[in-house]
Amino acid sequence: MSLKIGRNDPCWCGSGKKYKYCHQAFDNHYELLRQQGAALPQPMLLKKPEDVEKIKEACAINMAVLDYVAEHIAAGISTQQIDDWVHEETVRRGGIPAPLGYEGFPKSVCTSINEVVCHGIPSETEILKEGDIVNVDVSTIYNGYFADSSRMFCIGQVSPEKEELVRVVKECVEIGIQHVKPWEPIGNMGHAVHQHAKEHGYSVVREIGGHGVGFEFHEDPWVSYTSEEGSGMIMVPGMMFTIEPMVNMGGAAIWTDEEDGWTVRTEDGLPSAQWEVTVLVTDDGCEVVCW
Ligand code: MF3
Ligand code: CO
Repeated sequence: MSLKIGRNDPCWCGSGKKYKYCHQAFDNHYELLRQQGAALPQPMLLKKPEDVEKIKEACAINMAVLDYVAEHIAAGISTQQIDDWVHEETVRRGGIPAPLGYEGFPKSVCTSINEVVCHGIPSETEILKEGDIVNVDVSTIYNGYFADSSRMFCIGQVSPEKEELVRVVKECVEIGIQHVKPWEPIGNMGHAVHQHAKEHGYSVVREIGGHGVGFEFHEDPWVSYTSEEGSGMIMVPGMMFTIEPMVNMGGAAIWTDEEDGWTVRTEDGLPSAQWEVTVLVTDDGCEVVCW
């Protein structure tokens, strides 16, 4: 018995199309790279069109919640207020905030101000003030599917140095998006992100990266933004992952608060910024599904 499908047979995926017009090119690419020993994603993590539709529903909530935050954030509010908004606006739309209870995380969103790199815990006593830069990292579960994105907000007038950091990190993400190309290693994307940050004299956090997302909050691959060209997992159409570099104005070194177990800060106390999008690898690049 042979499992080999003829070019004119119906595709194995159930589309009803002939194999040659459907998954044959995909299978050839995958098999060739597998034989070459390349790192490839597990097929079960690849998103089919119907999966993408479901995940996009979670993304729509995630983005609406961030839009809400963008409209209301201002000097004088507490980060707990942001947590309340995120919780209420997510639940109102039928979603669940993914961070709440995730590995013991106590709140519904991460709020990371100035030298806080990521995983800041919202608090009643932490009040946003003019000149702060803050990352709000929102993740949503909807119908069992996961969305993840984060944005930076400048509170009132911020210093030109902070403003440039925030702008350049956004550019880093845009450059990363441009470097998502099917059948190429993901290290090419991370390398391009790193280059842009370095050109501006910034450093990129090494220990914490991005991740696959969609069926779970955090899936393979782990994604570095300090990677070498030609390294890492092959980007395969149907893969979904985040581009979320943490970029420091000063050195790359970070430390984690032992008291709360979460808050990550820069070693030198200088500001850090992060933007996060989720992309879907396509046949000719990628589609940004969450921002
Ligand atoms: N949203 C973060 C990410 O981009 C994950 C935060 S984990 C949490 O991966 F528990 F702190 F929410
Ligand atoms: Co993420």
